Amino acid sequence: LLVNASEALGRPIPETLFGIFFEEINHAGAGGLWAELVSNRGFEAGGPDIPSNIDPWSIIGDEYSSLTLSTERSSCFEHNKVALRMEVLCDAEGNNSCPAGGVGVYNPGFWGMNIEKGKKYKVVLYVRSSGAINVSVSLTGPDGLETLATQDIIASSCDVSNWKKMEVLLEANATNPNSRLQLTTTRKGVIWFDQVSTMPVDTYKGHGFRSELAEMLADLKPKFIRFPGGCFVEGEWLRNAFRWKATIGPWEERPGHFGDVWMYWTDDGLGYFELLQLTEDLGAFPVWVFNNGFSHNDQVSTFNVKPFVQEALDSIEFARGDPNSTWGSMRAAMGHPEPFDLRHVALGNEDCAKKNYRGNYLKFHTAIKKAYPDIKIITNCFGFSRKLDHPADFYDYHLYTSANNMFSMAHRFDVTSRAGPKAFVSEYAATGKNAGKGNLLAALAEAAFLIGIEQNSDVVSMASYAPLFVNDNDRRWSPDAIVFNSSQLYGTPSYWAQRFFRESSSATVLHSTLQTNTSTSQLIASAIMWENSGDSKSYLRIKIVNFGNDTVNLKISVDGLEPNSTLLSGSTKTELTSGNLMDENSFNEPNKVKPTQSPLENAGKDMDVVLLP
Ligand code: AHR
Repeated sequence: LLVNASEALGRPIPETLFGIFFEEINHAGAGGLWAELVSNRGFEAGGPDIPSNIDPWSIIGDEYSSLTLSTERSSCFEHNKVALRMEVLCDAEGNNSCPAGGVGVYNPGFWGMNIEKGKKYKVVLYVRSSGAINVSVSLTGPDGLETLATQDIIASSCDVSNWKKMEVLLEANATNPNSRLQLTTTRKGVIWFDQVSTMPVDTYKGHGFRSELAEMLADLKPKFIRFPGGCFVEGEWLRNAFRWKATIGPWEERPGHFGDVWMYWTDDGLGYFELLQLTEDLGAFPVWVFNNGFSHNDQVSTFNVKPFVQEALDSIEFARGDPNSTWGSMRAAMGHPEPFDLRHVALGNEDCAKKNYRGNYLKFHTAIKKAYPDIKIITNCFGFSRKLDHPADFYDYHLYTSANNMFSMAHRFDVTSRAGPKAFVSEYAATGKNAGKGNLLAALAEAAFLIGIEQNSDVVSMASYAPLFVNDNDRRWSPDAIVFNSSQLYGTPSYWAQRFFRESSSATVLHSTLQTNTSTSQLIASAIMWENSGDSKSYLRIKIVNFGNDTVNLKISVDGLEPNSTLLSGSTKTELTSGNLMDENSFNEPNKVKPTQSPLENAGKDMDVVLLP
């Protein structure tokens, strides 16, 4: 491998080349990155109708003899009218006395709440009652026997004759990853509950994100975040699509919705505002994908698409409009008067083949470019095989394929036209039987593909793996980059492969030549150089994937070094390898396939490295 370290012979890599794609899939957000512990906090999961689905809330006590539960449209919140009505039939004493621990309801969260000793949790709930109340708010073990934290809320009948917001701060005296929240009482009467939330006090940057998951993202140094889908944006039916206006403002007032592609309810605590906040917290640019009148099964005609166009314009105003503008003022009211740095929007997801796509796209394009000429617009239609019949700044490209094919796709962009809109590879992953739930083979193929993208970053501007997250309790799509449950997490080999590229955006891709023969045609390599802002030093990184069956002894020569250059001193070698290509990480062995670093022996202008098969 010949590498020329002269930056003058290299090419600058776009500042947004590598980012991440967050989709609400696999409980990535609800029960994942969003730290809310209560699932279905508004008892609304069945939608706006009653009886609604209160699942996973459950009863504590004997239904009918000690209490009855029902839902009714009596909440103080206009957009989510359903509240829980709990009629307690037993009493503190007398013939029908309540059990010692009281009766009531519990919520096990998303397959158990992770409650940790010494940590604080803020419980907020809305209550109304026919009389005085004495309700214990507790965090307990899974069967309710072990109490980790508890506090009573006591209020007179005057206090709670109308809806009242109550807040309780609980500090856990023990750890249990499978905990639940309980609301119990021993007092007869009727109590209505609504919008019950439990959040850990410590979240990433104080913005409600589960810290250890957000840190996994921060470690990738993503330069953009595409969100919130994927198919989640479209829905199976338009009535269940993600509509951003229903996801902003006070959390209590959000209606929530049923995502009918990935088949679960979201309270929409992680809404449009929070996702913009996430991008800012991670130092990334938002890539906002909005619904442009298409779901999987229905579509809006171009004649009728105007309200969707207005909704898109409003979303841009919300993100970056003046704090005195209609929608910018709502952002300011949510605590963010400064605009978010929104520069990219994507019109729909995988909708190019649909009858009205072009017509609708043009309506959006005209309106957005008129109001916001600097906004870059991403089309769903692939622009490499033929010239697009509509204007676009980028074209979206999704690639899910076998590991072998993924490896060969590293050369996909070598032969595309250098003119026209650039590619946004917004979803890629090695999939299928050979990729398992995310194994070394898949990761190597993806690393090769990313090397190809790095080499072709004159025509590819952005790339992100998909899907990002999976809650192991609701695997709707495999493989994924980060696997978690209530308390554990690990990166799949694909996650670790992406780490090799975290310095690439804004770096210089150097001129390099791989002199191959047949046995080395399974090799692919690239070299980048960048200046580290921390120590203002220049760094060189050479990445090589050996996708073949043989060990390769590779000679690397670095030319173009300044005289007396110290660039190569202290060089290290980082390897992503394992005993078996099919090896995967797991909760039991989270680090089975993970990069290991060692000093690079004989680092210098000419060096030999051994690349395992
Ligand atoms: O990443 C999973 C799904 O794959 C996305 O929702 C969709 O865009 C693609 O088909």
